[in-house]
Amino acid sequence: MKTWTKEERYRILMDPQELIGLHEKARSSKYRQRFHIQSVTGLMNDPNGFVWFNNLWHLFYQWCPWGAVHGLKHWYHIVSKDLVAWKNLGVCLLPDRENGYDNKGAYSGSAMPIDDSLYFFYTGNHRDPDWTRHAYTCLAKLHKDGWVEKYPLPLFGENPDYTEHQRDPKIIYREELGLYYIIIGAQTKEKKGCALVYQSEDLLHGWTFAGELKVKGFEDFGDMWECPSVEHIGGRDVLLFCPQHLKIQGRGDSVNHNGYIMGNMDWKNLTFIPDGQFHVLDFGFDSYAAACANNLENEDEAILIAWMGLPDVYYPTDEEDWAGCLTLPRQLTVRGRRLIQRPLPELKKLREDKIVLEKNENGTYDLPEAAEMEADCRVGDVDLNLFTHPDGSGGLKISYREADKTISIDRSGMDLRFNEEQGESRSRILESGLSHLRIFIDRSSVEIFVNDGDAVFTSRIFPTDDEHYFSYEGDIFLRLWTLKDAVADKFII
Ligand code: FRU
Repeated sequence: MKTWTKEERYRILMDPQELIGLHEKARSSKYRQRFHIQSVTGLMNDPNGFVWFNNLWHLFYQWCPWGAVHGLKHWYHIVSKDLVAWKNLGVCLLPDRENGYDNKGAYSGSAMPIDDSLYFFYTGNHRDPDWTRHAYTCLAKLHKDGWVEKYPLPLFGENPDYTEHQRDPKIIYREELGLYYIIIGAQTKEKKGCALVYQSEDLLHGWTFAGELKVKGFEDFGDMWECPSVEHIGGRDVLLFCPQHLKIQGRGDSVNHNGYIMGNMDWKNLTFIPDGQFHVLDFGFDSYAAACANNLENEDEAILIAWMGLPDVYYPTDEEDWAGCLTLPRQLTVRGRRLIQRPLPELKKLREDKIVLEKNENGTYDLPEAAEMEADCRVGDVDLNLFTHPDGSGGLKISYREADKTISIDRSGMDLRFNEEQGESRSRILESGLSHLRIFIDRSSVEIFVNDGDAVFTSRIFPTDDEHYFSYEGDIFLRLWTLKDAVADKFII
């Protein structure tokens, strides 16, 4: 594994030409995705600024140009008409040189459109020459003609009552109160994760600290909360966040999680009243920093997208100097005390050919490298092995056991294993048994939607050339489609 010096990680991008070679190398990788958003070069992590604006979906991702390393972060801009096909637009927010507020990174944040402009709220990750860190909540504006203007002063600096870990502003407008709010993730001096709330009557001026969000029962829940947000879906409030350095039962040794609490948000008293426990958002291995699109008109649902990755872990494409992709965008609705995540209806457009299933000599079926699988499951156990060898050995095992109504995935049978120390299997008990599976397979990922959005398992997998087969057992009716390409892997900086 490559070791990076500070100079290499925080190298300033002077000329796009410096990246051509890295892009070519990434593009020729057999793990390059065909219908998932992925980094143009280097590493990508969180989705940022997801919004509908000027008749397009705009999305940005945290981007370090230089390789599979968390270094100098930029916001890279992509757009879509339908949330299915995406186009690269190039870098949008560049960190300042020298001593600016975001001199060591334009970190995560959100966006809000007003009239003809799109405003970005992001964390300026600043380092003094002695490497002391400061977090600033910064503002930038995308003008209609594409010009990006960074405001010279931040909206507010760090709060001295908390540690240096203060970041990821989420902008929210509450019409009934006539107030804008910014929620940021933070860490108390006692090293507890929390969310801080700022408010203002004016989007661009006069921001004041309103207080720490009170969330009863969650005062000691991880040592830092990243990417917090409060969403209003189907008449309910949802606190979505990533508590860090916390072990959760059934999640192996993994310490970074993305989840949510349902409840009610009392904005006046800055209190989130939970209506139950913390739920893991995705039961797979690789999902983090989920963000909902801002300003949707339909209040009964939200659209969510997440980083298909985790902090502090290794991926096999690190060797090829690139890492990271996003999940498919998902429709979020509320059922009872839980969130339901379904693939967006628009994603059916990706379907190309319906495959007639024909068994190979040794009992397996061919698995296309970009495919969708749908299975109606009747009674009994189910075993579905994806990415097996031609003889059915190895692969990613998806198994359902009727006796305890548990569905599990296990990636320990894959030839290329990674992050084993975080556990190689994950499972979930299904209240009403298994009835349906919808699975999206790309060249290096799999997303398994169980029982029409009741549970989702999202994972990176890196099949070798020999692992493009599948087999199944159980009383299931299975359909398979090949999928079209949907991301133009163009070199645009
Ligand atoms: C989450 C995160 C954010 C931060 C960003 C930096 O993955 O650590 O808290 O703003 O990534 O890239």
